[in-house]
Amino acid sequence: MLACRVFREGGAIAARVVEMSTDDLTPGEVVIRAEWSGVNFKDALGVTGRAPIYRRLPLNAGIDVSGRVESSADPRFRPGDAVLVNGMGLGESSDGGFAEVVRVPGDWVVPLPAGLDLREAMVLGTAGFTAGLALHRMEANGQAPGKGPVVVTGATGGVGSAAVSMLAGRGYRVVAVTGRPEHEGYLRELGAHEVVTPEGLRLGSRPLESARYGGAIDNVGGALLAGLLRHVAPWGNVAAIGNAGGPGFEGNVFPFILRGVSLLGASSANCPMGLRMEIWNRLGSDLRPAALARISSRTVRLPEVIEACEALMSRSALGRVLVDCR
Ligand SMILES: NC(=O)c1ccc[n+]([C@@H]2O[C@H](COP(=O)([O-])OP(=O)(O)OC[C@H]3O[C@@H](n4cnc5c(N)ncnc54)[C@H](OP(=O)(O)O)[C@@H]3O)[C@@H](O)[C@H]2O)c1
Repeated sequence: MLACRVFREGGAIAARVVEMSTDDLTPGEVVIRAEWSGVNFKDALGVTGRAPIYRRLPLNAGIDVSGRVESSADPRFRPGDAVLVNGMGLGESSDGGFAEVVRVPGDWVVPLPAGLDLREAMVLGTAGFTAGLALHRMEANGQAPGKGPVVVTGATGGVGSAAVSMLAGRGYRVVAVTGRPEHEGYLRELGAHEVVTPEGLRLGSRPLESARYGGAIDNVGGALLAGLLRHVAPWGNVAAIGNAGGPGFEGNVFPFILRGVSLLGASSANCPMGLRMEIWNRLGSDLRPAALARISSRTVRLPEVIEACEALMSRSALGRVLVDCR
């Protein structure tokens, strides 16, 4: 089998596409013939050696995958079943989805939800799952279109693109924030009503600013997250999803104690299985992005996956980059 495998060599990280035996895969009860995966920010950080995401090496990269069960020692799955795995340790502590074959514990496996085929499931992948999880948490905490427009930062990325389309489909007015305004046309096709640069938001620096937005889904962190929190209307929600612009942020407590604003987390890797299944089922039904087909801008095969990770890191990718593992 072919896989994009990451090694530690002389203290440095090196990724290569190699042939290996399925016998050497990390253990599990379910063997999956992989069909699709996707390049996530975390994969790109790991494969390019930008951040230490791997808990063991060597390891096959790829934190999500869809495919068909080849064999299973877990009675819940039969050969031929259409399934997916995202997070749980895939591509971090266990051999991942940038491979022709994946072997995982049965407890990690999600049956393909109704309303998605195997390819569509990875057009969404970890990115779409996390956008859905964020919106699910926001709405469970009272978010509704009437509270005002919802801002999506890092809008042209995988999570951002899915979030823009999902929010628009659920009736929200969507403000897409991007450092690449040349992609305004793409973002409007996904359903964005306004497209603005971070600078164009003119977020100001007072402890509380005008309550312009109902909420936000933030992929960037840093000053953008801090600035947006100061502009959220009473009882709005901000989901902190990513750190594309840096992990830290400096804020103050006034949005929370004077406006009742909530800052919500969304962590795809360790999302509990019950909630994970619920989100995937919603992704095939009421959260399914209308612009799903538009979100995948590029498909690569396994030999091209390392270059695709470099492209994501250099911010030249758009939407989801699919990996055809077949
Ligand atoms: N919490 C979770 O479970 C979870 C799951 C998936 C992803 N994430 C995080 O969510 C973020 C997005 O992931 P993704 O897979 O969608 O990645 P992606 O496709 O590479 O998208 C990231 C987007 O962020 C913006 N960006 C990139 N570099 C930036 C920088 N230096 N400063 C400011 N903005 C920058 C870009 O959008 P524009 O060019 O449009 O500004 C880029 O398209 C990442 O931080 C990732 O780690 C978290």
